[in-house]
Amino acid sequence: MSSDAYSGRGNKDRTITKTSEPGGGIPDTRAGTAKPAAGAHFLAGENMTGGYGATDILHDCTLTVDKGKIAVIVGPNGAGKSTAMKAVFGMLNLRGGRVVLDGEEITDLSPQDRVAKGMAFVPQTNNVFVSLSVEENLEMGAFLRKDDIRPTIEQVYELFPILKDKRRQPAGELSGGQRQQVAVGRALMTQPKLLMLDEPTAGVSPIVMDELFDRIIEVARTGISILMVEQNARQALEIADTGFVLVQGANAYTDTGQALLADPEVRRTFLGG
Ligand SMILES: Nc1ncnc2c1ncn2[C@@H]1O[C@H](COP(=O)(O)OP(=O)(O)OP(=O)(O)O)[C@@H](O)[C@H]1O
Ligand SMILES: [Mg+2]
Repeated sequence: MSSDAYSGRGNKDRTITKTSEPGGGIPDTRAGTAKPAAGAHFLAGENMTGGYGATDILHDCTLTVDKGKIAVIVGPNGAGKSTAMKAVFGMLNLRGGRVVLDGEEITDLSPQDRVAKGMAFVPQTNNVFVSLSVEENLEMGAFLRKDDIRPTIEQVYELFPILKDKRRQPAGELSGGQRQQVAVGRALMTQPKLLMLDEPTAGVSPIVMDELFDRIIEVARTGISILMVEQNARQALEIADTGFVLVQGANAYTDTGQALLADPEVRRTFLGG
C-alpha cells in the first residue's frame, strides 16, 4: 500500500469499475483438466448450503471474487447475506458446497486458519474493541504476526488520516464512520489478500459512505480482493466488478455491477425503480 496507489482515485472512475467480463471471469470447465471450476476466481464459495442448527439458510449459494476486484452482495434483510459471509469465513458448518481460496480448498479450515491463509473479515456488528484505543485496535488486528507491524499501522493511517489524530482515543468514543474505519484498518493489519466487509457503511452519512467506498477502491487497487455486503445497493453496485443479488439464501441475479444497475427487473425489485 504505497501512497501512489491511493492518489486521486474516486468511485466514479470507470477505468476501475468497468474492466471485468460479465460474471467476473470465466471458470475453466474444460473436460480433462484437474483444475476446479473455481480456478479462475481468487475466492469461490461454491454451491454453499447450510445454516444454524437443522435449518438451512443458504441454498446452493455461490459467491466469487477475482484478484484485486470488488464483489458486492446485496439483497433484502434476512436474505442470508451475513450468513453467506460467515460461511465463506468458516463460521458456519456447510452441509454442501465448498470454499476455494487461490486454488486451494479451505472448506474445513477454522476462521483463524483462514486468516493465516490471507482472509480478513469485518463483521456487521461489534467489529471494534470499544474500550481499547484506536491504535490498540490496530495492534490487536495483527496478533498473528511476528514481524514488524509498524509500517502497516502507518499505511492504515495513510488510508484513514483521522485515525492517526485519534490513535490514543478509545474506539468507543469515535463516530460511526470513524469506527468503521478502525474496523477496516484492523482487518488490514493482517495484510490480507481477501478483505470481507459486512455492511461497512451501516449507519453513516452519504458523504462518509462515498469516502469509505473510495478507500475500499484504493485497497482493491493494491491487489486485495474485496467481498462486501451492502445495504446501499445502488451505490455499492456502482463500484462493483461483480454483483450478487441474494434472495432467501439463493442466488437471484449475478452480473457485473453495471449490468445489474441497468437490469429493469433488478431495478424494480431491489433498487427501488
Ligand atoms: N445465529 C443465528 N441463529 C439462528 N438463525 C440465524 C442466526 N443468524 C441469522 N439467522 C437467521 O438467518 C436468516 C438470514 O440472516 P442473515 O443475518 O444472514 O441475513 P442478512 O441478509 O445479513 O440480513 P440483514 O440485511 O438484516 O443484515 C434470518 O432468517 C435470520 O433470522
Ligand atoms: Mg446482515
